[in-house]
Amino acid sequence: MPSLSQEILPEKSCNASRRDFLRKTTILTLSASALSTLLAACEGTTITSTGQQITLDVSKETALQSVGSVVSKTFGQNNSGRAVLIVRASTTSFLAFSSVCTHEQCDVIPPSSPGGNFSCPCHGAVFSAKDGSVLAGPAPSALPRFQTSFNASSNILTITF
Ligand code: FES
Repeated sequence: MPSLSQEILPEKSCNASRRDFLRKTTILTLSASALSTLLAACEGTTITSTGQQITLDVSKETALQSVGSVVSKTFGQNNSGRAVLIVRASTTSFLAFSSVCTHEQCDVIPPSSPGGNFSCPCHGAVFSAKDGSVLAGPAPSALPRFQTSFNASSNILTITF
């Protein structure tokens, strides 16, 4: 006749197995999600909008005071922690592009003077600072662009990721 501990043991074992199964399933799900994100980044064309908004007080950005000027900034984990290139398109409008080259994901660099274009130091791709389009290969597609809005009276730029 089985003892009390022997009768309980199978249930404990079952609970442990269920717990173990759930833990492994969670790890597998997270791994699949991370792999999916990594693959999307490697393809270089897909940025999933998170809807997260950041604001920037442009009056404090001395490098963004003239039309055509560009600054490179990071905003936490937005854009996967990679830099965002902010272009002053006019006195009252701004553009924001991912700095991640669509060829092999190097960081493109801002122009050395206002009105110039972005260039990739890895294989020489050139992107327009006006719309992110490819001006010279081997990049297969334009730099992803984030939505921007600017409140001229408060000098606040909002970027939506
Ligand atoms: S990674 Fe930019 S041109 Fe190759």
